[in-house]
Amino acid sequence: AQLSALLAAAPKAELHLHIEGTLEPELMFALARRNSITLPYPDVEALRRAYDFSDLQSFLDLYYAGAGVLQTAQDFEDMAYAYFERAAADRIRRAEIFFDPQTHTHRGIALATVMAGLEAAIARAERELGLSIALIPCFLRHLSEEDALQTLDALLPYRERLLGVGLDSGERGNPPEKFARVFERARALGLRIVAHAGEEGPPAYIWGALQTLGAERIDHGVRCLEDPALVEELRRRQVPLTVCPLSNLRLCVVPDLAQHPLPALLDAGLKVMLNSDDPAYFGGYLGANLDQCFEALPQLDARHAYTLLRNSFEASFASPEQQAGWI
Ligand code: HPA
Ligand code: ZN
Repeated sequence: AQLSALLAAAPKAELHLHIEGTLEPELMFALARRNSITLPYPDVEALRRAYDFSDLQSFLDLYYAGAGVLQTAQDFEDMAYAYFERAAADRIRRAEIFFDPQTHTHRGIALATVMAGLEAAIARAERELGLSIALIPCFLRHLSEEDALQTLDALLPYRERLLGVGLDSGERGNPPEKFARVFERARALGLRIVAHAGEEGPPAYIWGALQTLGAERIDHGVRCLEDPALVEELRRRQVPLTVCPLSNLRLCVVPDLAQHPLPALLDAGLKVMLNSDDPAYFGGYLGANLDQCFEALPQLDARHAYTLLRNSFEASFASPEQQAGWI
């Protein structure tokens, strides 16, 4: 209970959060009404009941459908600001957040609309909530490399407002190597590189993200434990893994939190921290991820808590001077 209070009060950074995954059912219904869209659920409770996933794809189907209510810049602003308020309540100081440009451009929403809404929310949150926020667009790996290249081109006018690029969506059958040229261009532009790998996909996808894409951080990465040579590489280079326990639970990557590999990852000397991924869909924000992990995994103690929180700042792409101001 004492540790729980300390965890709640401690400053934090969040490095793996999809802003579209913060769209709570209540706001989804409100935006649907505002935009004269009919959702295929009678009410919020029915929608929440549908959040009963069997794997990553079963979640992605609902997640992409849910994003359909986002039509105007105001919609994106309202969604993002609601997350920033929750982040501030969780004592998050720094958030490096993902968004999926193709999820919106493919349904006819201009990138300018998405950016205007997100930027308005970020400016307000930095001013009124004291957060430091950075944006990382992710390419959808179920789409083609050509589509990702066009998306990178479309992002160029916003280059100065982007921290880096990432890779997400359905992992199985979509290895990192499919996007070698996109990430080569992104690196040439000086963008920081992250990629989802080793959530549902095999350790080979983590190797590919490191070696072919030049990933500086691996999103999820929990399946690295199946490959001792990979664990040694990640440990030696202290490559951060952005672990998302409630996501892993709800997408059946682990059968229950008591069996989550977090203790094994920490014991292996890997640079891990906790994140919330898509909190509106997975039943909890960063505070809940921390709380439920420490509840379910009694082998974790106050030193582990400190390591996880310190790692969250050290694994961010903020300068050491900025980091010092938050801790
Ligand atoms: N994995 C892959 N794609 C995603 C995720 C995830 O956890 N969340 C949102 N898009
Ligand atoms: Zn994710």
